[in-house]
Amino acid sequence: MSRSHLVQIRDLSVAFDGVPVLHGIDLDVAPGEAVGLVGESGCGKSVTWLAALGLLPAKARVSGQVRLGAVDLVGAQRATLEGVRGAKVAMIFQDPSSALNPVIRAGRQITEALGIHRGLKGKAARREAVRLMELVGIPDPARRFDLYPHEFSGGQCQRLMIAMALAGEPDLLVADEPTTALDATIQAQILDLLATLREEMGMAVVFISHDLGAVAQVCERICVMYAGRIVESGPVGRVFDAPRHPYTRGLFDALPSLTGPRTRLSPIPGTVPDPRALPQGCAFAPRCARAVAVCSLQRPRLEPDADGRALACFDPVPADARTPAEAQHPAARASAAVRAVDEAAPPFMPGPHGAGPAGSGPDRGRWQEAAQ
Ligand SMILES: Nc1ncnc2c1ncn2[C@@H]1O[C@H](COP(=O)(O)OP(=O)(O)OP(=O)(O)O)[C@@H](O)[C@H]1O
Ligand code: SF4
Ligand SMILES: [Mg+2]
Repeated sequence: MSRSHLVQIRDLSVAFDGVPVLHGIDLDVAPGEAVGLVGESGCGKSVTWLAALGLLPAKARVSGQVRLGAVDLVGAQRATLEGVRGAKVAMIFQDPSSALNPVIRAGRQITEALGIHRGLKGKAARREAVRLMELVGIPDPARRFDLYPHEFSGGQCQRLMIAMALAGEPDLLVADEPTTALDATIQAQILDLLATLREEMGMAVVFISHDLGAVAQVCERICVMYAGRIVESGPVGRVFDAPRHPYTRGLFDALPSLTGPRTRLSPIPGTVPDPRALPQGCAFAPRCARAVAVCSLQRPRLEPDADGRALACFDPVPADARTPAEAQHPAARASAAVRAVDEAAPPFMPGPHGAGPAGSGPDRGRWQEAAQ
């Protein structure tokens, strides 16, 4: 395994009751890197990471490799997986209220995690739990330590989940739709928190989301999944500037523009195929306006491109193609990207140390400029 990778996933495949739902995922996460995973519902985003961490039910058949240092997590013993979960890789889920235990006081749930992962007990554990609650922005944490989860708001419950995830000081935090259940204001705060924590703790983040704007705020690299496969991946700046897989392009074209003249939305026609009846060639072919004869016969492989992205497509969108909105109104240039920036930029909470969102690196700057 390359030293530059924290996690290296190779040919990860999953089947439920004999039905394949994940088809050979290759994905690397470098230390400290933030990777976004996007795609429509059912495309395999959650299953990828549940399989990687051994969290799928016994009926799931998992094959491939998930290397974390010298350890392969696929088929690993329970003790090995328990040593990794929480301590090296932590996962937070979409609905915090169902992930927190309603009959155990919030602070105690964090001290339990501290006991398991760092051996902290008693006053030391309580002190550290209060510090973590403060770190994730729970007001008056010492007093609220003894409250039950239902006495916190939805956004605060998500902060508690993040505090529990941080208890093991993980190298990688997998956040699976962590803001979907929250309103836009709280969502922006949680995204800002994730970005700030990542910067302060040097932790890698895998951010699973439907929201391209949120991915732009948190991530440097994006992987687009469709029907159990990665179909496009690359630096956020490049993919947002010029999405080249017709499916990625469709996700952008389906976004409403908040700037420029009003234009008709272009939803992707049709629906995600049933895993039991996948098309023979490219799984996107029945929905793809660019499909050519070979598309329904052969499956395109994910091939690296010269510009740092990887694409699985026989006839990708040209890099300089205009969106439908741009074609109708040149002023609406990159309107989807503008919306993503507008949504991503938190209007408040600049971060305790004045740090911008994690996506404020060169790539983000580039596509922000390009979008204007
Ligand atoms: N426990 C399970 N048993 C059977 N099939 C499952 C199970 N979990 C997931 N699947 C199937 O695996 C496929 C991928 O599901 P997954 O949950 O990874 O989708 P997702 O991309 O995370 O979608 P969403 O955005 O809705 O969370 C889907 O077809 C789903 O029905
Ligand atoms: S391989 Fe063909 S059908 Fe699939 S996305 Fe590319 S052009 Fe469309
Ligand atoms: Mg999911």
